[in-house]
Amino acid sequence: MASSEQKPNVLILGGLNTYSRALAALLVPVEGESLVAHMRIVDKFAVVPPTTYIGAEFPKVLKKPNVEYVQRNLTIPSAVAQAFDPPEGQTAYDYVFDFTGEARPSRTEPVIINMTCAVARLIGLEAAKRKIKAYVRLQLPFYDTGSKSPRNEKADVEPEGTVGTWWHETLRMLAAIEDLNLVILRIGFAYGPYTDYGIITSAINVASVYGFIKRPMKSLWKPGDNPTNTVHVEDIAGAMHACAKWMADLGRKEADALAGEQIIFHNSKSRVSDVEGMPPHDQKLIAPLFNLVDDANSTLLSIGQVTTSFFGTTFQFFNQLKSAYAKFKLGELVEDINEAHVGGWTRMLILAQPPITSTPLTGYMDEYALKRHVVAFDNAKIKKVIGYQLRHPEFTHAELKDMIDKWKADGSWPNVENVAPPPDLNAAPDADDTDA
Ligand SMILES: *[C@@H]1O[C@H](CO)[C@@H](O)[C@H](O)[C@H]1NC(C)=O
Ligand SMILES: *[C@@H]1O[C@H](CO)[C@@H](O)[C@H](O)[C@H]1NC(C)=O
Repeated sequence: MASSEQKPNVLILGGLNTYSRALAALLVPVEGESLVAHMRIVDKFAVVPPTTYIGAEFPKVLKKPNVEYVQRNLTIPSAVAQAFDPPEGQTAYDYVFDFTGEARPSRTEPVIINMTCAVARLIGLEAAKRKIKAYVRLQLPFYDTGSKSPRNEKADVEPEGTVGTWWHETLRMLAAIEDLNLVILRIGFAYGPYTDYGIITSAINVASVYGFIKRPMKSLWKPGDNPTNTVHVEDIAGAMHACAKWMADLGRKEADALAGEQIIFHNSKSRVSDVEGMPPHDQKLIAPLFNLVDDANSTLLSIGQVTTSFFGTTFQFFNQLKSAYAKFKLGELVEDINEAHVGGWTRMLILAQPPITSTPLTGYMDEYALKRHVVAFDNAKIKKVIGYQLRHPEFTHAELKDMIDKWKADGSWPNVENVAPPPDLNAAPDADDTDA
C-alpha cells in the first residue's frame, strides 16, 4: 500500500462528454507538477481522433507520460474489472472517480437504467472488492428542490423526471454496498471552459444569438422563484479531489458517522424486483453526501441577465398566457422556439471571421433545456466538513469571457465582433415569436 508520502494512482471513469476532463487537467496539469503518480481515464469515446468534443486542453493532458486513456464500454462487466487492473509496474488504484451515467434526459428509461444504475453498480462492486480507498460518485442536478430556500443534504429533495429517478436510485444502490468507500458529490448546473454539455452552455449560446441580432432574449418562465444554482467545472474537479483525499484517511464507517445522510427512496416499489441491485424500498441507506454549488445563488433571472448583458442585449419574460401554455404544452413549443435560435446560430457560424464549419456548440434547446428547473442547494457542509474552498464562487462576465475566449481559440466559437447582423435577421418580425 502507498505510504502517505506517495502520490496516489487514480482511475477516472466516464464523463468525457461532461466534466471528467476538468478533473484530469487538475490532477495532471499541462504546466506544473502532477498531483498523482499515475492516472488512467476510461470511457467509450475514441480520443484520436476524438468521437466527442474534448477541447484543446485535454489532448495535452493525454500526452503526459503518467496518463493513459483507455477506450472501453463500461456496460460490460469484464471491461470494468479490467479497468481496475493497473498497468504493469504500478500499484493498485487508490482513488476512483465515477462520472458515468446517461446524462441525456431524453433517452428511454431502459437505456437510462442500463447506462446509469447498472454501470455505477458494476464500478461500485469492483471498487469495494478491491478495497479502493476512495470512490467518489458525481451526481448531476436532476432534482426539483422546491424554491423556498437552499436545501442542505438532510432535506428530502425530489428527483426530477425519469432521469432523476434513476440517477437518485443509483445513489441508493451504491450506498447499499457496505464496504464501498463511497462519497457522493451532488452538483448544481455546471459551466466552464471546454464544457459543451448542459443548460448553462445552452443559455450562453442562445444569449449570443440574441446579442448578435440585437433583440431581447425572452424566457417562458416567470422571473420569481426559479433558483438554478451554478458551479464551475474546475470546482467540480477540485471538490471531487478533495472528497477523495478526505475519504482515503477515514474509511466508510467513519465517513458515514461524520457526513452520512439517508438516501431516501423516491421510486416505485414495484421496480425493486425487476432492476438488478435495487435495494428494497424500506432499507435505510446512509452515505456521505455533499452538495457543491457556487456562492452566486444563481436563478433563471440572474443567469439570463449575466449572459444577455455579456452579449449586449437584455433578458425579458413572456406574458402569463404563453407561460401558462408552455407549462402544459412545452413539447409543442420546442420546434417553434428553436427556429429562431438555430437559424441565428447557423448564420453566425457562416458569417464568423473565420467561418466555423464544425462546432459542438449549438443554438438548439431541447425540451429539458427549455423546461423550468428549480435547484437550490446549500453549500455549507462541504466547506465545513472537508474545508473545501471555491475557486470560482460567482457566475460573472469574467468567467463567460474565459469560456468564450477558449472556444474561440479552439475554433468552436463564431467570432462575429466585426460582423453586422444581416437585415433579415435583425428585422425579424414579432418579438413574441422568439424565446429562450
Ligand atoms: C456497449 O455494450 C452494450 C452491451 O453490453 C451495447 O448494447 C452498447 O451498444 C455498447 N456501446 C458502445 C458505445 O459500444
Ligand atoms: C439493459 O441491460 C439488460 C441486461 O444486460 C439487457 O438485457 C437489456 O437488453 C438492456 N436494455 C437496453 C435498452 O439496453
